Amino acid sequence: MESTRSSTIFTFSINLLLIFLTLFSAAASEAAAACNKKDESALLAFKSSFRYSSLTSWSRSTDCCSSWDFVGCDSASGRVTSLRFYNDYDMSEYIFLNGSIPAAIGDLSELERVEFSRISSLEGPIPPQLSKLKKLQSLQIYQTQVSGPVPNFLSELTSLKELQIGYNRLSGPIPASLGNLVHLTSLTLYGNQLTGTVPASLFSKLPKGSLATLVLSKNKLTGTIPKSFARVPFSNLYLDDNKLTGDALFLFGKSKPIVQINLARNSLAFDFGKAAFPVSTNYIDISHNEIYGSIPNGIAKLPNLNYFDVNSNKLCGKIPSGGMLVSPAENYANNKCLCGEPLQPCK
Ligand SMILES: *[C@@H]1O[C@H](CO)[C@@H](O)[C@H](O)[C@H]1NC(C)=O
Repeated sequence: MESTRSSTIFTFSINLLLIFLTLFSAAASEAAAACNKKDESALLAFKSSFRYSSLTSWSRSTDCCSSWDFVGCDSASGRVTSLRFYNDYDMSEYIFLNGSIPAAIGDLSELERVEFSRISSLEGPIPPQLSKLKKLQSLQIYQTQVSGPVPNFLSELTSLKELQIGYNRLSGPIPASLGNLVHLTSLTLYGNQLTGTVPASLFSKLPKGSLATLVLSKNKLTGTIPKSFARVPFSNLYLDDNKLTGDALFLFGKSKPIVQINLARNSLAFDFGKAAFPVSTNYIDISHNEIYGSIPNGIAKLPNLNYFDVNSNKLCGKIPSGGMLVSPAENYANNKCLCGEPLQPCK
């Protein structure tokens, strides 16, 4: 008798629980829309264009927004807004995309963010269909075998804020048309085989009030740094490891928002003694150039400076003292006649 009663209560509670669970999951599935069918088809075409891939979770029997790896959706509309493939720094690669970036990516019209990071199985050129992605704000193709030019059509990605195409096998010039991107604040093209000059147009249409980041390190760029850069509010400017010549003094100035500047390993020649720096500066590397003059006293007064390297130039005179930063002797080595701490005393 007693046991029947308790089992009835038990059954009743289980039923109640089931009702709650059903209601709850109905509410949950209402909150997130199912994957848009057009986007699903585009993703399946994307998958099938690879010879081999790690896209095993991409199957029609599951919802692309909730169950497919690397896919991000807008939960209200069920539209695919991000595709992010990245292998972590320290791990051996486990994401494979053997083949080139599929043309079908251009059919994912709501994409805002695309990332391929450390995918060494990815090769071939950047496909022109990418230019159809008018809502794309961030494009990262980093450490892959992607080759060919930096395409002109990237300037048609009119919403782009961040373009990061570092450590690939791109060659040829930097298209001047990238200067037409009115929302672009960060451009990174380091570690490719880019040739030609730095286009004067870059960041000529920078949004008002924004700071610019430009990273062109480790390429084969020649010519002078465009004078137009004197008007660009760079916070981070990396032009190191190229073949740039001439003046760079106009990049420095008390009222400029520079945080990090790296001009190392070029053939720049200008009077460093005339350079001034804002308090925001924390990183200056001008090593391995033909830079002459003295080290400005203002350096010693920069409260945030934590890296300063001028080695292998033609600098002369006393190293400013009394600053917060103490750089090792090698950061001053191989100049014409620098003296004082941490080098030998001045005569
Ligand atoms: C995919 O590419 C990697 C190199 O990136 C290679 O080691 C692997 O053999 C390729 N797999 C197939 C099935 O082609």
